[in-house]
Amino acid sequence: MRLDRFISQSAGISRSQARLLIRRGEISVGGEVAKDAARPVGEAETVTRGDLCLELPRPVYLMLNKPCGLLSATEDREQATVLSLLPPELAARVHLVGRLDKDTSGLLLLTDDGAWSHRIASPKHAIDKTYVAELAEPLVEDAEQRLAAGLLLRNEAQPTKPAILERLCATQVKISISEGRYHQVRRMFAALGNRVLSLHRERIGRLHLDAGLQTGQWRELTREERDCLA
Ligand code: URA
Repeated sequence: MRLDRFISQSAGISRSQARLLIRRGEISVGGEVAKDAARPVGEAETVTRGDLCLELPRPVYLMLNKPCGLLSATEDREQATVLSLLPPELAARVHLVGRLDKDTSGLLLLTDDGAWSHRIASPKHAIDKTYVAELAEPLVEDAEQRLAAGLLLRNEAQPTKPAILERLCATQVKISISEGRYHQVRRMFAALGNRVLSLHRERIGRLHLDAGLQTGQWRELTREERDCLA
């Protein structure tokens, strides 16, 4: 990372303010006054301003138990977003890893590590997700086979990738999918002649929603949880 960017991120100031500090000779790298704002800062190098050692803020990785009724967005002019559940200083830093519909609850990930979220959301990795759905009608008998074969959704040319269904009772199921099309689960059940009454995400890849998190609560991921996804 360039020196001016490093200073801007670690001191919470703008890049031009960082360059001013460099021009004034206030910044040292490895004990030597640094003059070049574009010079890269190596991982092992120490950047100081006077006696103060400048360090990059460590990235944050959060899981949130999303309630229904909040938008999965970082900002919206009219409606409350999931970021309203976080303290302002965290909300200002993070972005969402994928989305849930306003009326879907459950596991949502947030981070300020763009490379991590990109890997998780990338269709290349096809990380599967499990949802619990309440249905309006008892599910048709051949649902398993039709979901495994792939369904053609309205206005789409490609069938869905194979999905796995587990019946919990006549009108409650678990479904695992490895894509993220618009309203995908709701549209899949519509294609089976049914209607989703409620939808809750309980798993992304190997990461399960913490059963101890009440609706609307969040916590940081452990290192193992972070690493099990990407
Ligand atoms: N599928 C949906 O239909 N909605 C969601 O929020 C997530 C998956």
